Amino acid sequence: MFDNWEALEKECMQCRKCGLCEHRTNVVFGTGNRNAEVMFIGEGPGENEDLQGEPFVGRGGQLLDKMLTAVDLDRHKNIYIGNMVKCRPPKNRDPRPEEQEMCIEWLRNQVKLIRPKIIVCLGRIAAAKIIKPDIKITKEHGIFFEKNGVQMMAMLHPAAVLRDPRKKPEAFEDFLTLRDKIKEICTHTYTDTEE
Ligand code: URA
Repeated sequence: MFDNWEALEKECMQCRKCGLCEHRTNVVFGTGNRNAEVMFIGEGPGENEDLQGEPFVGRGGQLLDKMLTAVDLDRHKNIYIGNMVKCRPPKNRDPRPEEQEMCIEWLRNQVKLIRPKIIVCLGRIAAAKIIKPDIKITKEHGIFFEKNGVQMMAMLHPAAVLRDPRKKPEAFEDFLTLRDKIKEICTHTYTDTEE
């Protein structure tokens, strides 16, 4: 474990712990406010993220940004966004359990440095690894679980909402639930104005 961001990021950017490093353009380390009380965790980079080195920058990311804005959240101001695996799996396949296992150490270190009050997992893969292995995302999205003193919630993955736009209202409902929880337990999320 690294106790500072500089060392952690430097090591992570050079990672060769699993085969995903062979195909990457960029390591997608994570972005946002390192003092955030709210952390979002996705599954892993897609093509756009791999090319740009930033999480959620494709169409799913645009939808995510819209929903964030609607509840006064901003990836550059008052939240942090990371992924469970930092390199793009070929053809966007699900990251394999051994790849997740190798990579999650980086995420654990990020969580340790940020010490978020709330963790939001985007999609089933991240939620199963981080919240509970048997999570049923269709039934249990939008519900808070407490784990190790942190409030954790799964949301539908933006890509799933893009595939089926009828899911938009229930997806947005979760952002309202999140806003209520932030107001209840966070102290500076809604007053943070810069990184
Ligand atoms: N999907 C994810 O889970 N993460 C990203 O960064 C982009 C798409």
